Amino acid sequence: MYLILLGPPGSGKGTQAERLCKELNLPHVASGDLFRDHLKRETELGVLAQNYMDKGHLVPDDVTIGMVKERLSRSDCRGGTILDGFPRTLAQAEALDSIFQELGQQLTGVLFIAVPDDVLIERLSGRRICRNCQTSFHILFSPPRELQTCDLCGGELYQRDDDQPDTIRARIKVYHKQTAPLIKYYQATDLLHEVDGNIDIDRVTDTLITVIGSLGP
Ligand code: AP5
Ligand code: MG
Repeated sequence: MYLILLGPPGSGKGTQAERLCKELNLPHVASGDLFRDHLKRETELGVLAQNYMDKGHLVPDDVTIGMVKERLSRSDCRGGTILDGFPRTLAQAEALDSIFQELGQQLTGVLFIAVPDDVLIERLSGRRICRNCQTSFHILFSPPRELQTCDLCGGELYQRDDDQPDTIRARIKVYHKQTAPLIKYYQATDLLHEVDGNIDIDRVTDTLITVIGSLGP
């Protein structure tokens, strides 16, 4: 099962991907997490990506596609995967079609999590992430038991550098310009399923699981 989670920044892609990956026993491939891992390891790619991420802009297609292609080629993705944050441009969507073709894989469905812009700002401003296992919390909507500690692994919680008001606004703008056109792209192939993301986290998960259960092989 090869699924894409599509949606604006803060729509809950990461939160839902974690839950779905556990439920369906699939690897979570999140381009943002891959970039943050490069950044942490101070690789050449990490240094390049940081300039774009800090401004809320997209990292250029060629490096992003290369990084995701390498990840999808690994053996743990042979039985399926949940893509979170990729593709994000039409060029990336077309490249993904070619990657799947090359690897003999087929896209099962695209789950579009719809959330209004004003809600996104509130969500991203209150987000806290575990430095160790990357689990997302929210100080109001999904609070950790202790303010600075991850409930799951005890790791330290931090606020992403790009979760500052100006950068959040830039990311939302970039989403509307460069990523929202993918809705039409996948509608045209009948692969798109829209889900209301402006309800509580558990109900979004239930809806996604129902939709996934209805998808063909
Ligand atoms: P990335 O890390 O992918 O960030 P994003 O798309 O901006 O999305 P977020 O991770 O911010 O949001 P999310 O939808 O995962 O929401 P979450 O579940 O955390 O990308 C970062 C940067 O990397 C990009 O700006 C770009 O520079 C670069 N990049 C990445 N991919 C790229 C690509 N393909 N091409 C080029 N560049 C790329 O939830 C948010 C908060 O809301 C949390 O606090 C959560 O607890 C809370 N929450 C979630 N669901 C609910 C709910 N239903 N109700 C209430 N609260 C909720
Ligand atoms: Mg995310």
